[in-house]
Amino acid sequence: MPNEVIAIACDHGGFDFKEILKSDLEKMGYEVADLGCNDSSSVDYPDYADKLADALKVGVAKRGVLICGSGIGISIAANRHLHVRAALVHDALTARLCREHNNANVLVLGGRTTGIAVAQDCLKVFLDTDFEGDRHQRRIDKMS
Ligand code: RB5
Repeated sequence: MPNEVIAIACDHGGFDFKEILKSDLEKMGYEVADLGCNDSSSVDYPDYADKLADALKVGVAKRGVLICGSGIGISIAANRHLHVRAALVHDALTARLCREHNNANVLVLGGRTTGIAVAQDCLKVFLDTDFEGDRHQRRIDKMS
């Protein structure tokens, strides 16, 4: 959706992907809120999960992207925040299902476990897929 802001953050294991996906988002017409990190120096992924969660909470963006080496640590950290539904995905199918069934508001990718072309595909699918609601909303409500 043009004019929408997408927040993006990563640790050093996701820095290269962040730069590429940020550029993809801008080419698609999104505004990007880049919350770091800003190079491949070693940092701690919980700090960047928290930055993105805070950006969603205050309304900087409604949706976001997080990347660490495996995607695991940063998704665990992000999901400590009740308003975040962060989904670690590995292909277009899981990217689609995390939107349709889980209304995920944060896409999580592993910069060392997923190929960049697959990650780019996941990003497009995540952005373009709507939540199906209905019985899935009932299940999400039980987690809130
Ligand atoms: C950093 O070395 C690495 O542990 C981190 O990017 C991530 O894979 C943790 O889950």
